[in-house]
Amino acid sequence: MKFTIQTTVLAVVVVTVLGCTAARQDKKKLYTDTEKLPIDRKVDSVLALMRLEEKVGQMNQYNGFWDFTGPAPTGGLAAQKYDHIKKGLVGAMLNVRGVKDVKALQKIAVEETRLGIPLLFGFDVVHGYKTVSPIPLAEAASWDMEAIKKSAEIAAAEAAAAGLNWTFAPMVDVTRDARWGRVMEGSGEDPYLGSQIAIARVKGFQGNLTEFNLAACIKHFAGYGFSESGRDYNTVDISNNTLHNIILPPFKAAEEAGALTFMNSFNELEGIPATGNHYLQRDILKGEWNFKGFVVSDWGSLAEMIPHGYAKDLKEAAMHAANAGSDMDMESYGYVQHLAELVKEGKVKEEVIDDAVRRILKVKFLLGLFDNPYKYCDEAREKAITGKKEFHDGVLDMAKKSIVLLKNENNILPLAKQGKKIAVIGALANDKTSPLGSWRIGADDNTAVSVMEGLKQYKGNELVYAKGADVTVGKTVFVSETKINTTDKSGFNEAVKAAENADIVIMVLGEHGLQSGEGRSRSELGLPGVQQELLETVYKANPNVVLVLTNGRPLVIPWAAKNIPAIIEAWHLGIQSGNAIAQVLYGDYNPGGKLPMSFPRTVGQLPLYYNHKNTGRPESNEPESVFWSHYTDVENTPLYPFGYGLSYTTFQYSNLKLNKNSFGKGGSITVSVDVKNTGKISGREVVQLYIRDLTASVTRPVKELKGFEVAELKPGETETISFTINEKSIEFYTANNIWEAEAGEFKVFVGGSSDKTLESGFNYTK
Ligand code: NOJ
Repeated sequence: MKFTIQTTVLAVVVVTVLGCTAARQDKKKLYTDTEKLPIDRKVDSVLALMRLEEKVGQMNQYNGFWDFTGPAPTGGLAAQKYDHIKKGLVGAMLNVRGVKDVKALQKIAVEETRLGIPLLFGFDVVHGYKTVSPIPLAEAASWDMEAIKKSAEIAAAEAAAAGLNWTFAPMVDVTRDARWGRVMEGSGEDPYLGSQIAIARVKGFQGNLTEFNLAACIKHFAGYGFSESGRDYNTVDISNNTLHNIILPPFKAAEEAGALTFMNSFNELEGIPATGNHYLQRDILKGEWNFKGFVVSDWGSLAEMIPHGYAKDLKEAAMHAANAGSDMDMESYGYVQHLAELVKEGKVKEEVIDDAVRRILKVKFLLGLFDNPYKYCDEAREKAITGKKEFHDGVLDMAKKSIVLLKNENNILPLAKQGKKIAVIGALANDKTSPLGSWRIGADDNTAVSVMEGLKQYKGNELVYAKGADVTVGKTVFVSETKINTTDKSGFNEAVKAAENADIVIMVLGEHGLQSGEGRSRSELGLPGVQQELLETVYKANPNVVLVLTNGRPLVIPWAAKNIPAIIEAWHLGIQSGNAIAQVLYGDYNPGGKLPMSFPRTVGQLPLYYNHKNTGRPESNEPESVFWSHYTDVENTPLYPFGYGLSYTTFQYSNLKLNKNSFGKGGSITVSVDVKNTGKISGREVVQLYIRDLTASVTRPVKELKGFEVAELKPGETETISFTINEKSIEFYTANNIWEAEAGEFKVFVGGSSDKTLESGFNYTK
């Protein structure tokens, strides 16, 4: 009897094992047999085998949080998710990383489910994985597309080695309001610069989709950067004109660059949440643009359609989202719970599901996951390349290029390398976590080179450090640090003493890395806590102050701009931050960055951007009149404009020439300018081309960036920089609701900043 039972058990085991092996072989056959077929046929061959629930499963994405290499979870949400993975009801995970964990989950998907379809593993690789690069806004300040592409390549290679195959980046939202904490994650206020950067990042992340690349995800589609009052998750109310002319261009550029996925956004547009927005997702993205990848919702954004007041319950939210073209549900549980039922009830057509699943499977095929689900799961590679020197060199280069010199009175910078006593003041000078910035969840705290550590490499000067004041006492991701800034001034005296005894004072002030980013909107944009007071107090003791700003957004610093002799904008520069800052302070690197976002004089000016409209009352002819578009208490202009940034040398612009003064259909104009390095050292200048369309079927901005070139010049050297203006440069979304060039008169401007340009003009005749 005993023997029989054992035999039966053994037989069952053998049959099961053989069954599994057979199933595995079938799955393998399924995908390898189709090797020569075009990718869409391969996708169809898989789709044909899928049950409705399995299809819906591909449209479901879960956050992972349990121990994936340990025993299966036995209760709660983790157990439910685990069970769903085993049943083939999950298409993608997020926040699961590290080869061991990824492999463990992938194994379940591939070996234990009926069809063995591999999972996608997504993660916010926003600016580096472990070897953190500068925040995206900082990188944008470099205007260096090669460096930005390289930075994305490094991020992708390191994250892909950790098992990941999909990044939720780049964020391409145009941002005009520095109160919004997420400005740190984008490329600033200009659609043209934003488009070039979007292309560079997509190419960097995706490359040729090898095991060193990630699928990119373009977010947030669309309008999220225009959250009212800069308050995160707030209502968005914008015109179709702004949507098409300002917000959409970087998305379109990213799509054309081959981005495999898009993410929709939390906000509403015309009263319809983006997740349920047919116009955005089906008419524009998948319709007009013919996007062939898939759209993932933002975290819980399906469910958020209920508080938005657009869906009465999760089922209705799932219906709206699917019908509007959201292909994958991130963490709302709406699709997995309701979509199959909605299909059976006829409320969502099975074609809608098939289309979404095709798109998702296609991305999996393109990533090579059907050929090798463990393509990204090589522990040896993970060990070998994580944090390698070459990556550090790359992000250091990027960090130096991201720095913007805002002020340098009497050439106080660069610092002499010998014989000086330097006081370094500010908690941020000694911080090894803050420079990593926001959105760097793959990295470890305390891994950045601090400013102090960077400065210590230069041994010829004497350094004295004084904290002065704390910036923040809370450093966790979920706490709003801005609310708990310390008010403690007990460190002021020590700082004053250090300043009094020093030749030069370097003050490192600004925001802690987690004071910007998602959920970190601020209504005041001065230096947080008591830092402004500290700055003024120290300045009284010794006015030879170099202010190093570290922040994730434009700050309001009118007092510093007026009084402090030298200011460098050093953002949150990533893991090599301190080295980059020290090399710039000592002149081993001559800064050449230019602001990608205007710095306001006061928060009351926001939203503030250079490419504004002229209005009907741009100025007054009567000196005393108040009836024109202005403030009575502050000028209209920014403190530091878009495109602005100094160098340790100076540049002179002359000889702006157009090879003709008009062009017609199919034609173009060449614009050239001479740029001369008039200083004593070599330097890098970003030469910017702007246009203005004087009269059009809808009003146009006073200036629009249409090109930029980098000139690297030795002292005394002159280079002639040329740009081409063609129809593409002057096209916009017209009153006809299409992109087209309209005949008329244009101005053209060239210079080293949006507010300092040489000017000429041309006509376009249709
Ligand atoms: C919410 C954010 O808005 C989005 O940008 C991010 O990718 C997801 N969370 C996933 O972390």
